[in-house]
Amino acid sequence: MAITTDAAAAIGAALSTPARRLPEPCAMVIFGASGDLTERKLIPALYYLYRHELLPQGFSVVGYARSSFSDDQFRARQFEAVKEYLKIPAEDESYLTEFLKGVFYSSGDYTAPDGYDRLAKALDDLDEQRGTGGNRLFYMATPPSFFGDIVRNLGARGLARPKHEGRNWTRVVIEKPFGHDLESARELNRLVTSVFREEQIYRIDHYLGKETVQNLLVFRFANGIFEPVWNRRYIDHVQIAVAEDLGLEGRGGYYEEAGLVRDMIQNHVLSLLSLIAMEPPSQFEAKSVRDEKSKVMRAIRPLPLDALNEAAVRGQYVEGWKGDQRLPAYRAEPKVSPQSVTETFAALKLYIDNWRWADVPFYIRSGKRLPKRISEITIEFRRAPHLLFRGTITEDMVPNLLRVRIQPDEGISLRFNAKIPDTMMQIRPVEMDFRYNEVFEASPPTAYETLLLDCMLGDPMLFTRDEFVDLAWELITPLLRRWRDDGRKGLYFYEAGTWGPPEADSLMEHDGRHWRHL
Ligand SMILES: NC(=O)c1ccc[n+]([C@@H]2O[C@H](COP(=O)([O-])OP(=O)(O)OC[C@H]3O[C@@H](n4cnc5c(N)ncnc54)[C@H](OP(=O)(O)O)[C@@H]3O)[C@@H](O)[C@H]2O)c1
Repeated sequence: MAITTDAAAAIGAALSTPARRLPEPCAMVIFGASGDLTERKLIPALYYLYRHELLPQGFSVVGYARSSFSDDQFRARQFEAVKEYLKIPAEDESYLTEFLKGVFYSSGDYTAPDGYDRLAKALDDLDEQRGTGGNRLFYMATPPSFFGDIVRNLGARGLARPKHEGRNWTRVVIEKPFGHDLESARELNRLVTSVFREEQIYRIDHYLGKETVQNLLVFRFANGIFEPVWNRRYIDHVQIAVAEDLGLEGRGGYYEEAGLVRDMIQNHVLSLLSLIAMEPPSQFEAKSVRDEKSKVMRAIRPLPLDALNEAAVRGQYVEGWKGDQRLPAYRAEPKVSPQSVTETFAALKLYIDNWRWADVPFYIRSGKRLPKRISEITIEFRRAPHLLFRGTITEDMVPNLLRVRIQPDEGISLRFNAKIPDTMMQIRPVEMDFRYNEVFEASPPTAYETLLLDCMLGDPMLFTRDEFVDLAWELITPLLRRWRDDGRKGLYFYEAGTWGPPEADSLMEHDGRHWRHL
């Protein structure tokens, strides 16, 4: 994403509408600051906010990790990273240098208390020297195995409580994955909530910060025409596809442990599903929205373990091609076992047992090394009840479709049937299309900008609450256990660069339906 000076002004104006508040002065600590997330997402997002004058005066960052850097070395690294990832023009580099004057680095172990003593002192100094006001945001950007140690040490050093109770705030952002299964998620939750209060905890799912995902709520509840048809009477089924064309990108060690369902479905896809399916919240605020999301999760029918093949398919990619580029098999990727049974693709059929959605299937598919990177939700409506045009040249009459594109080309389109001009009575499907980047001049902020700002403002609406995490794991854990016990049995292979194993097609064809051509 390139930010030019003109675009900066336009986005700044759009983001600073009256609904936008400026956060109180604060400092942010990033644990794991020598890592990939910090460079690719966090510091670029913070610079973006700074450039659009959405950060408070004196805002400061302290990067914390074991690697040894001076402040200047750390700044130089981040300078290069922001330049690369945001593609900022040369005339904007002075803004970046200015922003980085508020970025510091503190080297320390995650387990030993002395690093936290130094951190506490650095934060107190920032309060004095840069006016950060005693408000603190701790961001866990380490591998999850360190979350527990960090939280415990913050608690022990007295950093988890606001500096001045009632006057200051302290919040903690926890990256995904939140736990590995139901038990470990509960364990982590117990630990985090023994140190922080629930209202201080922001479990981040960056999918929820995407503009189209937020627009789903606006689309459903700010328009009168969709809600009356948003139910089993008019909707035949829903499809959610989250496809990636990339493979592991050097993250083989992590992926072997995680697999597709933990990496994508347990968090992002179930969050999307809950937003599509939830009842209208009484207010547009965190508690009401999150209450409704949880109700959806509670209503999802457990997967039928005695007939799992009818509801769940898992796959793993083997060698394939993208154009003339050879793509390696999953098992040939670095840090992956040659006998691995980890899934890189999954397709699920879920039902939500409530009045609105009884018997409406929600088909989910997600995978790595699919033909393209695309995330899309499709609502397929029932056919018109009476085929008035039967007997004319109308063989192609198709059901109405509403497509919500989350990435890469954010927008919404509606498919309906239209008469072809100058023909007798020939009908063809056409699309009404809304594209974000065509209608609004500035491209939408990326998810991390939105979410970091919300966190500083104390708005947890787009973050995941403890019970949602728990309910999502409750749904998914039995499936993962069964697959683990089955080993190689029931794992289907697909060529890299294709849309998954044929068995995933059968899952839908069995119901007389087809996956959307993406
Ligand atoms: N990268 C992404 O795009 C992305 C997206 C979504 C979520 N996340 C989540 O965000 C967190 C951070 O991701 P990341 O990609 O930035 O991680 P990373 O680069 O692998 O690790 C971040 C830092 O943690 C420290 N670390 C401590 N023990 C480590 C170990 N055993 N192996 C590797 N690093 C270790 C390292 O710093 P020192 O050695 O200097 O201490 C490293 O620079 C993870 O929980 C990840 O799941 C990442």
